[in-house]
Amino acid sequence: MYDELENLYALCFPDKKQKWTANDFSDLKKSGCEIIASQNSFVVWRNIGDETEILSIGVVPAARRSGTASALLQIIEQDIKQLGVKTIFLEVDESNIPAIELYKKTGFFNVGRRPHYYDNGHDAIIMKKEI
Ligand SMILES: CC(C)(COP(=O)(O)OP(=O)(O)OC[C@H]1O[C@@H](n2cnc3c(N)ncnc32)[C@H](O)[C@@H]1OP(=O)(O)O)[C@@H](O)C(=O)NCCC(=O)NCCS
Repeated sequence: MYDELENLYALCFPDKKQKWTANDFSDLKKSGCEIIASQNSFVVWRNIGDETEILSIGVVPAARRSGTASALLQIIEQDIKQLGVKTIFLEVDESNIPAIELYKKTGFFNVGRRPHYYDNGHDAIIMKKEI
């Protein structure tokens, strides 16, 4: 399973210098993260008290713009509501327009910025959603 996630990650993030490996996914799972994956998409998140953090989400290029990522976010939301989670947050590269548009469309809003957070020098935008 973790090898498949490594492959999926590489397909979804071809330009990332430091790609998540099978070991990284395994460690995330061991540390309490939740993972959903299919043949063409994955999402990783963790629940911390009444908050959930989305750590990564990806859909392979051929399957994009078909509602897959939105559906994954909806599945997570339904799951965490039952746990009493009130807020979802995430960080996204300021230049990642598809992701920012996805998050805006699914109810996230900007709450902050981490300057030069990424290896490429870009800022991270912090986004939240109240559920
Ligand atoms: C961001 C990503 C996960 C979106 O996945 P997706 O399955 O294509 O998203 P959806 O089909 O659910 O799109 C929902 C909405 O997001 C917005 N959106 C998605 N891709 C977009 C794009 N390329 N440009 C503009 N808006 C976009 C649209 O509003 C879209 O609704 P619409 O298709 O009805 O217009 C996908 O592009 C991806 O895997 N990118 C590479 C990995 C990545 O950047 N992950 C996020 C890291 S924070």
